[in-house]
Amino acid sequence: LDDLLSDGVRGRRVLVRADLNVPLDGTTITDDGRVRASLPTLKALTEAGARVVVAAHLGRPKGEHDARYSLGPVAARLGELLGAPVTLASDVVGSSARTTVGAQDEGSVVLLENVRFDPRETSKDGAERGELADELAALVGRDGAFVSDGFGVVHRKQASVYDVAHRLPRYAGRLVLAEVEVLRTLTGDPKRPYVVVLGGAKVSDKLGVIANLLTKVDRLLIGGGMAYTFLKAKGYEVGKSLLQSDQLDQVAGFLAEAEKRGVELVLPVDVLAATEFAADAPHEVVAVDAIPADRQGLDIGPDTRKLFADKLADAATVFWNGPMGVFEFAAFAGGTRAVAEAILASPAFSVVGGGDSAAAVRALGLPEDRFSHISTGGGASLEFLEGKDLPGVTVLES
Ligand code: 3PG
Repeated sequence: LDDLLSDGVRGRRVLVRADLNVPLDGTTITDDGRVRASLPTLKALTEAGARVVVAAHLGRPKGEHDARYSLGPVAARLGELLGAPVTLASDVVGSSARTTVGAQDEGSVVLLENVRFDPRETSKDGAERGELADELAALVGRDGAFVSDGFGVVHRKQASVYDVAHRLPRYAGRLVLAEVEVLRTLTGDPKRPYVVVLGGAKVSDKLGVIANLLTKVDRLLIGGGMAYTFLKAKGYEVGKSLLQSDQLDQVAGFLAEAEKRGVELVLPVDVLAATEFAADAPHEVVAVDAIPADRQGLDIGPDTRKLFADKLADAATVFWNGPMGVFEFAAFAGGTRAVAEAILASPAFSVVGGGDSAAAVRALGLPEDRFSHISTGGGASLEFLEGKDLPGVTVLES
């Protein structure tokens, strides 16, 4: 972005791909972290007098206009945070987009409507995506530029992330640069002990990253719903807890690999076992070898919290992705809070992977600014740590 700013952007149209994919309750944004994370790039451009055109997605609409996925609430919030009105075009590259962008003043922001309302955005056919990319590039004209700042979506080979970058002078925005720099410290030569805490519901979402982390980390602590598949693979009965039976062989392989490599793979020793999946479900602390057949584990127990805190106490580098329990229910938020507090109490350079763990940090009122970095990317940060090429990043380097 500094290169673009030093070239001078006053009056030029700049297309910014941002990740403004925020959780909504109706039209209320329940966590505006991604909107706030987009501000440094947008402010730098508007203050320099650019005409900023933002492309972003919300959710996974089916390639057609769908009011439930409108970026309307996001445009309003972005305007409040920027302290300047943000005009929402009612389409992606249609007449509304062209007229609104055409009438734009210097230093103003136009947000295009959800780019996934156009089926070409996510098409597997490069030629189709290319057509949309041509139309996006045409919006900012011959003098335009493209700034990639939607870190949360750089793992997607999509028209507004990847293809458009081939059609305009391309630059990394502040957020993408910061995220990539931090995550590279983890994939490069992290200070040791390097401890990773993984949680969340499904182990199947994390297979690639676990395989890669086992070659890097000193300790891998596993909590959340995914822990039960590990416990089952070790021979424990997990009652009605979340279990991915089809992943048991894979997980057994991870356990063997960790042992072979001398990686400490640490699992819960006790859990809060509840009668049902509900905020007010009766529950009790049970050891992992005594989970009743009719109960489900909804959080890690007190001994596990202490064990995980001990394993984090001397960490020099920590990456944390995924809650330890159903933190949305107050009764089952204690494990996630305890792990977050243990990370903050350690001297570690601490990185929180996006998605649910970032949302948990904010929902639990934890001091965000005391983590070294909170990634805005869920899937993107995991794929980065997995060692995969991220199309939206490699296109900037080519
Ligand atoms: C995310 O929420 O992880 C990003 O915005 C990407 O969204 P997607 O998984 O729908 O591509």
